[in-house]
Amino acid sequence: MAILRGDNGPVKQKAMQILVALGEIFDADKLIDVESAQISGVSYKTIGDTGLQWVESMSTEKVVIPTTLNPTGMDLHLWRQMGISHEFAAKQIQIINAYSRFGVKSLCSCTPYLSGHSPKFKDHIAWAESSAVCYANSVLGARTNREGGPSALASALIGKTANYGYHLDENRKPTLCVDLDIHLHAESDFSALGVSIGKKVNNGVPYFTGIENPSADSLKSLAASLAASGGVALYHVEGVTPEAYSLQVGGIETINFTSDELVSSYDALSTFQSGAVDLVAIGCPHASLSEMKKVAALAKGKKVANNTKLWVFTSAGVKLMAERFGYLKDIIKAGGEVYTDCCMVVAPIEQLGFKTMAVNSGKAAIYSPSASKVEVIFGTTGRCVDIAMKGFA
Ligand code: F3S
Repeated sequence: MAILRGDNGPVKQKAMQILVALGEIFDADKLIDVESAQISGVSYKTIGDTGLQWVESMSTEKVVIPTTLNPTGMDLHLWRQMGISHEFAAKQIQIINAYSRFGVKSLCSCTPYLSGHSPKFKDHIAWAESSAVCYANSVLGARTNREGGPSALASALIGKTANYGYHLDENRKPTLCVDLDIHLHAESDFSALGVSIGKKVNNGVPYFTGIENPSADSLKSLAASLAASGGVALYHVEGVTPEAYSLQVGGIETINFTSDELVSSYDALSTFQSGAVDLVAIGCPHASLSEMKKVAALAKGKKVANNTKLWVFTSAGVKLMAERFGYLKDIIKAGGEVYTDCCMVVAPIEQLGFKTMAVNSGKAAIYSPSASKVEVIFGTTGRCVDIAMKGFA
């Protein structure tokens, strides 16, 4: 009550007002403690001057829980190599400096769980990046709503969130059962599955059966594409994800996912089929160490075509590990570039002269045509790296 009254200053008051307003809208019974926050709306490309001013106006207080950031619009060290303008870089650095004043760690990644910022089973958290929300809820069994940038920041400043949505057991039950008639192989298969099912389930909770022994990278791809195409914040996989073991699944609609649907999902994600490709972009969500290993193996001993770039996006922590494991060397030797703190969607790709892009991510394929004004080809990681070497599809 004291915070709401303004006893702790206007910034904490504003933060508390945001949390209380959300609680009232969603009929929450109370505020609950959260263990960590992850804030979106960090790229200058997406928040612009208005967002920058808002963050600066709030940055007189400190966060009270571990808090990290979503990707920015550029690699904070290698932005010149990316071709980012000085004007953009200056604004982006202003945003990062404002967040630093809050005491927020400048781990700017949509996969903070791969760099040590990983919640435990049943932890309540306030995360904003939709793919990370879906991964944290589904694969880690943590509990978070799809926060917006301001509400995640408010939680970071107060250490609490309103008790509604995915924090409650009753909203974590499946609403649609999806039985797979096919065996999925590539991570991009899981991406295509997520895009297709996300459209059908909207913001419901899909329960998958028939997925055997998926990799963590596949589950990451599935989370991102379900969240991008349908607003999904939680899914379950029978025999795989932690909450699936205790769920009673019955009385809900069951649909099948067939090989024909997989093919049509792939087709629908490409806006062109053949021709010159300016940029091959891997790492949406940010590449894991095993994905870096895969790209390195595919690129080793080859050379990226003259008029094409191969960019791999990852977190600073994973890049460091990739360097130790020798993967970075192989990618760079082949002419690829590895960037941290940013990605192909929130970097100002449209200002860098790229018109065509190949991606292995359903989320990037959905967003890039509008966010970055590029035509896209969606394919497996192998096909994408092959395109990078040839320069065309
Ligand atoms: Fe991450 Fe950017 Fe994709 S934030 S999930 S790499 S759109």
